[in-house]
Amino acid sequence: MWKVKFFLIILVLFVNCKRAYGDEEVCDHDLGFRCNSGSIINCLDVCNGKKDCEDGSDEFLRNDVTESPCRNLECPNDHVKCNYGACIPMNYQCDNNYNCADNSDEWKYYCHKHKDNPEEFKSCESGDFIPKNKFCNGKVDCPRFNDDSDEWPHLCNLWPCPVKTHFRCKSGGCIPLTKKCDNNKDCYDNSDEKYCGRKVTKNPVSTTPNQGCLIRQDPNYYIKNVLENYNINPGDRVPVNTLIIIKCRNNFVFHGNYHEQRRICEKNGVWNSPLPHCIKYCDAEILNNSKSTTALCSFEGAGVPCNNIVPDTIAKVSCADSYKMPEQLGDSASYEMTCKSDGNWSTRKANCEPICGRYASDSASVAPWHVGVKTYLNQMCGGTIVSPSIVITALHCVQFEDEPALSVDKVVVIIAGNSVNVSEIIVGGQIDVALLKLSEILTLSKNIRPICRTESEYIVNSTKAFLHGWPKDTNKVTDVFHKTELDVLSRHNCSANLNGTYICVRPAYKLDRIETLCEGDSGSGIIAESDGVNYIIGILSFKPGRNVKCTNEPIVAVRFNQIPESLKTRISSDEEPLYDMGLLINPMVK
Ligand SMILES: *[C@@H]1O[C@H](CO)[C@@H](O)[C@H](O)[C@H]1NC(C)=O
Ligand SMILES: *[C@@H]1O[C@H](CO)[C@@H](O)[C@H](O)[C@H]1NC(C)=O
Ligand SMILES: *[C@@H]1O[C@H](CO)[C@@H](O)[C@H](O)[C@H]1NC(C)=O
Ligand SMILES: *[C@@H]1O[C@H](CO)[C@@H](O)[C@H](O)[C@H]1NC(C)=O
Ligand SMILES: *[C@@H]1O[C@H](CO)[C@@H](O)[C@H](O)[C@H]1NC(C)=O
Ligand SMILES: *[C@@H]1O[C@H](CO)[C@@H](O)[C@H](O)[C@H]1NC(C)=O
Repeated sequence: MWKVKFFLIILVLFVNCKRAYGDEEVCDHDLGFRCNSGSIINCLDVCNGKKDCEDGSDEFLRNDVTESPCRNLECPNDHVKCNYGACIPMNYQCDNNYNCADNSDEWKYYCHKHKDNPEEFKSCESGDFIPKNKFCNGKVDCPRFNDDSDEWPHLCNLWPCPVKTHFRCKSGGCIPLTKKCDNNKDCYDNSDEKYCGRKVTKNPVSTTPNQGCLIRQDPNYYIKNVLENYNINPGDRVPVNTLIIIKCRNNFVFHGNYHEQRRICEKNGVWNSPLPHCIKYCDAEILNNSKSTTALCSFEGAGVPCNNIVPDTIAKVSCADSYKMPEQLGDSASYEMTCKSDGNWSTRKANCEPICGRYASDSASVAPWHVGVKTYLNQMCGGTIVSPSIVITALHCVQFEDEPALSVDKVVVIIAGNSVNVSEIIVGGQIDVALLKLSEILTLSKNIRPICRTESEYIVNSTKAFLHGWPKDTNKVTDVFHKTELDVLSRHNCSANLNGTYICVRPAYKLDRIETLCEGDSGSGIIAESDGVNYIIGILSFKPGRNVKCTNEPIVAVRFNQIPESLKTRISSDEEPLYDMGLLINPMVK
């Protein structure tokens, strides 16, 4: 037994510029369904295709099928929908009995599709099926009841008829050109044997008779005729009994968020219900294509979901956790975009900038920019988040002596306790740094934030710095790292012939304990603080000798502002531009 649950979607009314959402159960299971006439029927009899109320009110047939509450009913698997939405068992469809209250289960043209050779046969108006190639062939082939529907001019005139090889009968049928003027009547109206003495100068295409139904000239319509599979254009007229499927072009939809509507052209040349209008949505995607922002949408003061955005909707864009509004946009916490009547937004969508180099909590042991780098051999190094999906580490952590860099599947980055895959390892020559491009854009939080970069000489020449590393003597995956204070020495204190690409660091002297730097600290960022903001100034490059795992001697580090230009470019191009399109203003690096 399937559960009946109906929701009455009160349709969005654009006519009076008012819109309301709501749902209401159409049938109360305890009380049953009350027909308009007053009698009560079982809920299961509502929207089942059969008029169980004497007035038929349980089937909600409406002029506009989209307004029938049956529309929103979900059918069980072995059921199919009537055009207005009721559910009937699948085997009732095309069984020559009317089972839908609107008879839509027996639409000839539709049912025909379900015959054994759907492509080969077509149905006559009287219901007989004849081979498709007998349609519009100039001759009446429907066998019974003087039915000439296979040669109806308004139908046949829509059929393709190649001008070079075929002749179109006045009645619309199409015959091979060789049959014209062959003294046989091939067009049933005899038009192929007329004017045979004279040269035909004009294309003898008869004009489409002024019958059938006109499709409104809506440039946003995309129309298909289920029967013929060829496209019909807005402004065209289609023959009586044609079932058309109308869709809206990209970014347009119908009233009530329907993506497809069906209409039948009825006998007197009127649509079975008025043709719907396509409405342009504003692009919802741009509200959702950056992790740096969040958006709340409202319409006439009431909150609405940020999708299918109709004109006059206001989107209030704020920065996501650990992002801040770019300076260009002032210091307000949010800005507004309004969906205009042409379906464009009133202003461009701007992105927020990551908050870099700041601890979110008081605990400085949680360095949100510091990550672990682990290889398949379980070697561990440190690394630093420098942009939304790039971590910088030491080259020797991901490339062993005289070998090419490891393949990406042999390296993972441990960020806030979770493993993140690497999609690319970017090296910059012999210098001991590598960028790890992550397979995802990080979702920033108080535990995950990039470090700041700077060109300020005052900061990059700082003599006090620190780094975070794995806790000593443990292999645990963790997000609490060990902080080591450092003195930055002259590079000559490491080696007499070091050039300016390098700096030299050593654990700061402390009276109460002796700090060391260890193998697993390689690749960690050398961080300098200024005014409460932390900047990366170097990458530790500790390649221990034999039997040396830890040391308190000076160690070489690569100066961050001396890394190759190609790496700097990769980092800055990983940052989101302020605007997605058009004028690109890169967020300032601070
Ligand atoms: C925004 O994107 C997320 C995930 O990519 C998706 O789950 C959500 O439905 C989207 N929201 C809108 C309004 O498109
Ligand atoms: C709306 O946006 C489209 C492109 O998305 C553009 O071609 C069109 O000119 C815009 N219309 C207005 C009135 O700005
Ligand atoms: C990371 O890569 C491994 C294999 O290399 C794969 O099994 C896993 O699903 C990936 N994880 C994510 C989050 O993509
Ligand atoms: C910073 O260090 C570089 C290289 O050692 C040096 O050329 C420069 O003068 C220093 N700048 C300041 C402000 O100390
Ligand atoms: C660094 O080297 C200089 C000489 O270049 C020396 O005077 C100084 O004592 C050394 N500093 C340390 C901490 O080793
Ligand atoms: C510094 O030395 C390294 C080799 O140790 C070399 O690759 C690099 O180009 C040198 N840089 C400068 C600025 O001379």
